[in-house]
Amino acid sequence: MKIFLDTASLDSIKKYNDMGLVDGITTNPTLLSKEKGNPAEIMREIVRIVQGPVSLEVVATTAAEMLEEAHRLKKYGKNVVVKIPMIPDGLKAVKKLKSEGIETNVTLVFSANQAVLAAKAGAAYVSPFIGRLDDAGQDGMSLIREIVQIFKNYQFDTNVLVASIRHPLHVVEAGKIGAQVVTLPPDILGKMMSHPLTDKGLSAFLSDWEKVKKENPGLKI
Ligand code: E4P
Repeated sequence: MKIFLDTASLDSIKKYNDMGLVDGITTNPTLLSKEKGNPAEIMREIVRIVQGPVSLEVVATTAAEMLEEAHRLKKYGKNVVVKIPMIPDGLKAVKKLKSEGIETNVTLVFSANQAVLAAKAGAAYVSPFIGRLDDAGQDGMSLIREIVQIFKNYQFDTNVLVASIRHPLHVVEAGKIGAQVVTLPPDILGKMMSHPLTDKGLSAFLSDWEKVKKENPGLKI
């Protein structure tokens, strides 16, 4: 399972990248709006820091303008994946970009049919937003199950990128289903890392070791 970070925060990206946990990044206009500074500079910096795929989203809504933006974004770095919204013009842009060898991530996917169409147009990734479906009273994870099954049945090589993840259990479920990628807000990655029994266990080990040191002055390991 690949882990992408769903953020435009350079501090978070550096922090988790230094731990070797970041296989890629997804950003979107909302995430960029939360950061201070020039968004274009931030995107360039993310692309420079992270080795893996970095999804940068177009903000145009016509195929012609999306293509212009895609070509500009692609100049930020070889690892840029152009994020395109799941609308008819978006699919047209995806097809053209695929023919030019530019990878795309089709975003705002909320149904298996949309995922199939994005894959057929040539998307490298589809991003179903499971948290937003859960919020709307639908079972987001069922959508992941459907898409993974359909892509498997027909050997689509499009990656299922599970997006809008709200808690660590979403990650476990997505992994059990076999989705290729999860994209996580940094706080979810932090939650995945910790467990109260780890903290309790470590503090017991350290306090027991203090006793050992008292009994063995000058002990070094
Ligand atoms: C994915 O690429 C999106 O940026 C993201 O996962 C959206 O999640 P949200 O529903 O938490 O905004």
